[in-house]
Amino acid sequence: MFLQKSSSLAKNVAIVGATGAVGEELLRVLERRHFPIKKLRLLASSRSAGRSLSFRGQSIPVEVLEKESFDEIDIAFFSAGGTISEKHVSDAVRAGAVVVDNSSAFRMDPSVPLVIPEINGADILTHQGIIANPNCSTLIALMALYPLHQQFGLSRVIASTYQAVSGIGTRGIEELENQVVALAHKKEVKPDVFPYQIAFNLLPHIDSFLDNGYTREEMKFQNESQRIMHLPNLKASVTCVRVPVYRAHSISIHAEFENPLSLAKAQDALIAAPGIDLIDDPSKGLYPMPLEVQGCDQCHVGRLRVDYTTPHGLSFWVCGDQLLKGAALNAVQIAELIPDRRDIGR
Ligand code: A2P
Repeated sequence: MFLQKSSSLAKNVAIVGATGAVGEELLRVLERRHFPIKKLRLLASSRSAGRSLSFRGQSIPVEVLEKESFDEIDIAFFSAGGTISEKHVSDAVRAGAVVVDNSSAFRMDPSVPLVIPEINGADILTHQGIIANPNCSTLIALMALYPLHQQFGLSRVIASTYQAVSGIGTRGIEELENQVVALAHKKEVKPDVFPYQIAFNLLPHIDSFLDNGYTREEMKFQNESQRIMHLPNLKASVTCVRVPVYRAHSISIHAEFENPLSLAKAQDALIAAPGIDLIDDPSKGLYPMPLEVQGCDQCHVGRLRVDYTTPHGLSFWVCGDQLLKGAALNAVQIAELIPDRRDIGR
């Protein structure tokens, strides 16, 4: 269900992790979507002391994150990782801010709405100070899965992800860049942030391994999809793979549905859905690719076909910019829907 954007009353906004890959993208998204801002506070670690960042033609100093950083802040975006969120989100909530958290710290907390505005925007209304931004590959996959679920009733998903290095922030992007340059000069590379060389390689390992053999990242797909789509019985078996791509995730999906379906109906559902473009003409060599979707707000869906190995199955391929819809854009879309304090009588 869509919510209306909240009023255009200007807000005091803080970005925790403003100097990071998602933080800098948040600045760009807030600027181009004309988010109404009275005061903007940019927060990072002491490593960034003395730096400033540009916003709407102004140079804004980066401040060191402290307990008191949230005085008079209405909306605080957190994009500095789970440890910082666990430590500082409560400071922001106590100061009266509504937090939009990009980490996994609160995503499974039943009192925290986990939101993709195109799917469950109305869940925002139940917030108690924190709203969670979903896992990036789950989010991008659901942009295509949800409209198909609405048509045919989703029951099971098998998926493989192809996740960009931006998923672990600036350090991931730098490591790929450095390794590509080193290898082009026939130099040896030493992995640092990834467990093995990422350039010209694939790593079937994102986040830590669990007792059931899946990784945490893989289980996020099922757990978060259940919450976002309000489908507590949905099953998903996922393999998450880190690939040497800078900033767009791709997901290969096999989805099973309760009801009979047709390719034409599935295409119509995807064409009508918000936030995605169907790019699907194999005869002309047209299909989504991570390089093409880079910098796009929309997610791209293609290679749509009926899965002939199972009744009521569809196979398809989705690509989305991990830093945009997978993180900063979705967070700003959430913030646009947060009711003003005066609207909810706080
Ligand atoms: P800094 O640049 O000062 O290290 P990325 O995910 O791209 O690596 O970005 C992480 C973001 O989180 C950066 O803005 C980084 O700031 C910020 N950050 C990391 N550790 C802290 C911390 N202890 N306190 C505040 N911000 C932090």
